[in-house]
Amino acid sequence: MKRPILAANWKMNNGPSAAKAFMEAFLAGYSPRSDRTVIIFPPAVALTTVATSSANRKDVLAGVQNIHWAEKGAFTGEISATMAKDAGAKVVLVGHSERRHVFGETDAQCAKKCQAASRAGLSFMLCVGETMQQREAGETERLVTHQLREGVSQTQNLISADFILAYEPVWAIGTGLTASAGDASAVHTVLRSELRQMIGTRADEIPILYGGSVSPSNAAGLLAAPEVDGLLVGGASVEPSSWLAIAQA
Ligand code: PGA
Repeated sequence: MKRPILAANWKMNNGPSAAKAFMEAFLAGYSPRSDRTVIIFPPAVALTTVATSSANRKDVLAGVQNIHWAEKGAFTGEISATMAKDAGAKVVLVGHSERRHVFGETDAQCAKKCQAASRAGLSFMLCVGETMQQREAGETERLVTHQLREGVSQTQNLISADFILAYEPVWAIGTGLTASAGDASAVHTVLRSELRQMIGTRADEIPILYGGSVSPSNAAGLLAAPEVDGLLVGGASVEPSSWLAIAQA
């Protein structure tokens, strides 16, 4: 496995005060580690809090859960990649299942967001994943490779772009149902070979994370699975104690 990435997606939890308390508790228990990277995706209003709290920790990065692809302008409620960068983000989450399924985000919009992140000098984490219906219909491979191809289709100079993939089966997110380590590995292997077709040996350097009902009890097993280079965690990342257990898995 590559140096693993443990990523916390707080979703709409932990505003600035809670984020500050979380970071104090988490960093007090998490000594600097050179063998893994932690990324925290707080709500945008708490981005500066997380970035400031972890400013002297190279192994703990702040990320942003969503951006708009435009640089600036009349887009009420949105933030741009450069604004997120200014607030301390190093990574942009793109195409999370809730963005796609609750807010109707399309592959074409994901592609513009990946490109905007890359253009701003940020890395992006593109999420892909199938619904249970799609899995049962045998469409998983076709769907995730399509989401990958479309998602990065606007990113210039992809071969040198800094990005991460996250395989998050929609049916496993927030449901308590986790893909088995074997199922996760199988899909990650498909994504890896698709990446090789796209960017050759550079594909082997792209981390592929698993996400979907990761908890302190299943994190180590998933992390040990072939082709699983890290974890993207929602519910179990909101409280410092369970996040600490996962970050140290
Ligand atoms: P979950 O969410 O860990 O609560 O299933 C994962 C995610 O949405 O990134």
